[in-house]
Amino acid sequence: MQYRFPDHFWWGSASSAAQAEGASLQGGKAATIWDHWFATQPHRFHQQVGPEHTSGFYQHFRDDIALMQQLGHNSFRTSIAWARLIPQGRGAVNPEAVAFYHAMIDELLAKGIQPFICLFHFDMPLAMQELGGWESREVIDAYAEFADTCFRLFGHKVKHWFTFNEPIVPVEGGYLYDFHYPNVVDFRRAATVAYHTMLAHAQAVVRYRARQLEGQIGIILNLTPSYPRSQHPADLKASQIADLFFNRSFLDPAVKGSYPAELVALLQEYDQLPACEPGDRELLAAGTIDLLGVNYYQPRRVKARSHAINPASPFMPEWFFDYYEMPGRKMNPHRGWEIYEQGIYDILTNLRDNYGNLPSYISENGMGVEGEEKFKGGDGQIQDEYRIGFIRDHLTWLHKALQEGCACQGYHLWTFIDNWSWSNAYKNRYGFIRLELATGERRIKKSGEWFADVSRRGGF
Ligand code: BG6
Repeated sequence: MQYRFPDHFWWGSASSAAQAEGASLQGGKAATIWDHWFATQPHRFHQQVGPEHTSGFYQHFRDDIALMQQLGHNSFRTSIAWARLIPQGRGAVNPEAVAFYHAMIDELLAKGIQPFICLFHFDMPLAMQELGGWESREVIDAYAEFADTCFRLFGHKVKHWFTFNEPIVPVEGGYLYDFHYPNVVDFRRAATVAYHTMLAHAQAVVRYRARQLEGQIGIILNLTPSYPRSQHPADLKASQIADLFFNRSFLDPAVKGSYPAELVALLQEYDQLPACEPGDRELLAAGTIDLLGVNYYQPRRVKARSHAINPASPFMPEWFFDYYEMPGRKMNPHRGWEIYEQGIYDILTNLRDNYGNLPSYISENGMGVEGEEKFKGGDGQIQDEYRIGFIRDHLTWLHKALQEGCACQGYHLWTFIDNWSWSNAYKNRYGFIRLELATGERRIKKSGEWFADVSRRGGF
């Protein structure tokens, strides 16, 4: 074996409640912003397929968990839907949801699969959005109550908790670039949402620690290294600023308990700082994590801007850099994303050198493929050699990082089974398992068989 991984390495995959459960208005669950947005603007979703059309984990979780066992999983991440557990966002707890999540967690444990549970994966309850979503401090308090309810109900079974998945995405999607509800484009409001999300995170961490449970709490961030076009000072500055906006805006408060001074100074200069209140600083400092989940798909390449900014246009991060297309970059042509395996190593060595080498794991990595049915073999199985190559090459760089002392403890693929992906619906398939939309039939892809073998042998 050329690449052997540590004995207790976490092998598995990730999903989320809204993307897998279905039953989006059943079992006592109330609407999220996704149910609402789809009901009002279905044309914003690929082929007008909405959040009801998932793989149906709510009904099929036992069969799906059996498949996870076949895939050699020793861990699996999903989320608890706030709008299922506490339908109005605060107040009454839904007993059907309590029963469902207990049954799901018990089934995972019975199959030797550690449940990794995230508390927010883009799925704001509509009732909370109506209060202002993350712009409202009331919603922060309601989220902290929800988190504490989860710790009280499931904390003796679940040992790995995550407050948020990719918290920057609702900021970008909902308040900057118009690809999530509520479709606002306003940087200062985006900054408030980002800031309040971290306050909510910190409150949940404080609540978790107060319960003195045996387990760890962390956050999952999509860390996208910012590579400069050249070593020219203007390109370097562009990449540093992109890094401040898109990585350090969440990584620094989560790991160090405070924001980078350069980011605060820059937002102050452009009058974009969110309002702070007494006690915020101390709260953030108390919210540092035990464990970091890293989602990595593609790099961000940038260069100094080549055109002047229209001073009358809305303030945007792109005022400080242009995107850069590197000649000869390797592409995943089925998703239009660059593939740069070394990015995983660069992230992990950055965490080692600049963030105290805190425990981390790769919580998402994967390859989306549009039109994947064209890769079906004669017997109908998806022959996804490209995905095997993608995973193998990323694991090779991860292995190098481990050899060099990085504290990375596992690798989860996005995702277990082809799933509904927000406004992209089923456009890009990512799963170890093929889902036939018309029949609900599940079939392990070639990559799933390969991964099962790798996880059982502990390497390749
Ligand atoms: C990840 C998200 O960043 O990207 C997932 O955490 C999402 O929720 C995945 O499904 C894939 O996105 P897309 O747009 O390629 O379907």
